[in-house]
Amino acid sequence: MRHIPRANLFAVIKAFVNGKPVDQIAQEITLPAANQTSHGLYFRLHFFGWSVCVTRPETAKYLLMHTDIFPKLSTTPAQHARRGTVVGKLLLGENVVLLAGKSWKEQRKIVSPAFQRSLPVQVFGKLTQKMVDIMSKEMGAIDVYDITQRWALDVLGEAAFGFHFQALEDRDNEWVTRYNYIIESAQKPLYFIFPSIERHFWSWIPERRKAHQEVSKFLNMMSKMVQEKREALGKTSTDQPSIRENEKDLLTLMIEAEREGQGRLTDEELLSNLCMLFLAGHESTASAVSLIIYHLAVHPDIQQRAREEAIRIFGDNADILPTIEQTRELKYINMVIKETLRISSPGVSMMPRVASQDTELSGVFIPKGTRLAIDMYDLHHNPKVWKNPKQFDPERFAPGGEAEKLGGMPWAPFGGGERQCVGMNFSLIEQRISVSMLLRKYEWCLPEDSIHKEKLVTRAAGIIKPLDLFVLFTKRY
Ligand code: HEM
Repeated sequence: MRHIPRANLFAVIKAFVNGKPVDQIAQEITLPAANQTSHGLYFRLHFFGWSVCVTRPETAKYLLMHTDIFPKLSTTPAQHARRGTVVGKLLLGENVVLLAGKSWKEQRKIVSPAFQRSLPVQVFGKLTQKMVDIMSKEMGAIDVYDITQRWALDVLGEAAFGFHFQALEDRDNEWVTRYNYIIESAQKPLYFIFPSIERHFWSWIPERRKAHQEVSKFLNMMSKMVQEKREALGKTSTDQPSIRENEKDLLTLMIEAEREGQGRLTDEELLSNLCMLFLAGHESTASAVSLIIYHLAVHPDIQQRAREEAIRIFGDNADILPTIEQTRELKYINMVIKETLRISSPGVSMMPRVASQDTELSGVFIPKGTRLAIDMYDLHHNPKVWKNPKQFDPERFAPGGEAEKLGGMPWAPFGGGERQCVGMNFSLIEQRISVSMLLRKYEWCLPEDSIHKEKLVTRAAGIIKPLDLFVLFTKRY
């Protein structure tokens, strides 16, 4: 791969070891490598191995639209090495995120219709109202990521399988503690980097033994849910007239899709998909909402314009629950959401693809077997793509604005093509409802001593989320 510029290996490893934030890695290491050539490809070491990274809209579109040439790499050596670990037990089963080819198509035929039919606006609205009420009882600055991730967990529990985590009311209850504990355990750097230590010795290490026990309890609970739901739906007709179609939980909708002849998932596959939906949908949406709150806090003029739109559509001075129709009218708030997902997209890089044959990308030779990944952060921050990419400007997404004029796929926080995020619409409506309800109830700003006064500070590993983002909320009514 000598014909493709390379991101300095030692700089990449040093950045990883030192926990350098993604914006610094992009400015100092990856964007300079990418912008050495007009095609914008560069070669780097990822946790899934050496890969060609894509940072230009046309190339991103070509890669995502040609899944026959560039299928998802279904089992990477990194995933294989994690079988039997906490991460492996939770996520590395047969699910729609990891599979490729025929088995992926079969699963997606069941998962997609469930998401097309599901838009639980009442669940979104009811739980946002609960979050708004809880915030009003807190004194002083609020830890925004803490509250949004409790809210997003409650939403997903109800929307995915009708389970009430009650994380908003009681962040220390049994199931919330268990869920947080296993997510934290799955991300422990030592075992993430050296999974063989965990695979061979977990039963000897008390902390790891506890993590495996907690995972088993969590999986047993989910498995029971799957069985109970199958049994309950087996006894009654598939019609549940008391529940509106769009408010049914995803598990119900997936089982119904099976009954309508779309295919069949085994109980293990359903379980694996439910776990994956949690991983894919929980922190990403919590992070997106907390990042919107941040960008609106540092841009009071944009915050006020967004609030005026929410008030125009929902009225003022009284709590309401939005309807689907109303959320479609939130044009400016949607632009704010899109710009937030550009400038601080929760995902940094998409999952790796592999060249299934010798081929070319942007006129560059790519040998069969090469791994490729779209570097979302670099795509969204590349000065060769966007004007003033560091500036937060929702107008980019106005009709006829910059985003529409750029060719290819310049904005890809949810991926694209046939592997596009199945929860995109679900998450966007969830964000529109929560942000508009917050805007009507509160005005907000950063406290004087905020660590984010100069610029957004994010946590280093995993998805992009704010570090210690405390915000002062003032009630409007
Ligand atoms: C702000 C919120 C979200 C972001 C930024 C996001 C981002 C993404 C991205 C970038 C992909 C494509 C990965 C790739 O092609 O390599 C993806 C796929 C996926 N996402 Fe999301 N996602 C979000 C919310 C959700 C939610 C709420 C759910 C479900 C509850 C979800 C479920 C999935 C699933 C199942 C896939 C795999 C689709 C497939 O490969 O067929 N996501 N997401």
